[in-house]
Amino acid sequence: MTSAATRRAGETPAARQKRVWDKSAPSYDKQIAFFEKIQFGGGREWLGERAHGRVLEVAIGTGRNLPHYPADAAVTGIELSPAMLAIARQRAADLGREVDLQEGDAEHLPFGDASFDTVVCALSLCTIPDPATAIGEMKRVLVPGGRLLLLDHIGSTWPPVYAAQWFLERITIRAAGEHFTRRQLPLVQAAGFQVAETERLKAGTVERIHAVKPASPTAARRPDTAS
Ligand SMILES: C[S@@+](CC[C@H](N)C(=O)[O-])C[C@H]1O[C@@H](n2cnc3c(N)ncnc32)[C@H](O)[C@@H]1O
Repeated sequence: MTSAATRRAGETPAARQKRVWDKSAPSYDKQIAFFEKIQFGGGREWLGERAHGRVLEVAIGTGRNLPHYPADAAVTGIELSPAMLAIARQRAADLGREVDLQEGDAEHLPFGDASFDTVVCALSLCTIPDPATAIGEMKRVLVPGGRLLLLDHIGSTWPPVYAAQWFLERITIRAAGEHFTRRQLPLVQAAGFQVAETERLKAGTVERIHAVKPASPTAARRPDTAS
């Protein structure tokens, strides 16, 4: 991201995200492949192993999770950036996989209530302008009992690392809307999901979450295990 990505006058947060990611699209795969090795290793497999049925991937980017979904899953992806989506389309074609890929905003999902068995979001709630609204939308489109699967980088449990992340995001939030100390778990709990599994890795900078939309709205409870 460059300083050219700084918000322009009158630009909405979503328009800025679209512009930033359109610009980053050609180099994204190369950049993220490095972080997949050193920070997120195994994360995409973890998501794919838990996804089933009608799967919606929110902010699918260049489609790097596509190779990991079960062959019988019906995958839909939405993404704000047309340039990222074009790479995802090519990846789906290369994999010989039929995927419904659409431009769309995570904060206003263009799907009816209870349309999906699984919703996946990877490495994106750190940059989606209003993550609480996006998580609310993910819950709305899930069937009761449906799975929410998240992977993201978050603020470290190690104070020196957290401090470095905090300083870094003073630049990246302004430049590209990228947060390093956000944490999705409290938002998932506040939205009324039941947390089935969480894993926190790499000095606490990576979190994987598997949560379930309760069968009835009052059935949600806070887990004892989430830290
Ligand atoms: C770091 S990339 C992650 C891409 C992909 N999920 C992955 O795992 O590689 C973040 C993505 O979030 C997308 N994004 C940001 N805000 C969005 C929004 N409001 N709705 C949909 N996509 C959004 C960006 O366009 C970008 O493709």
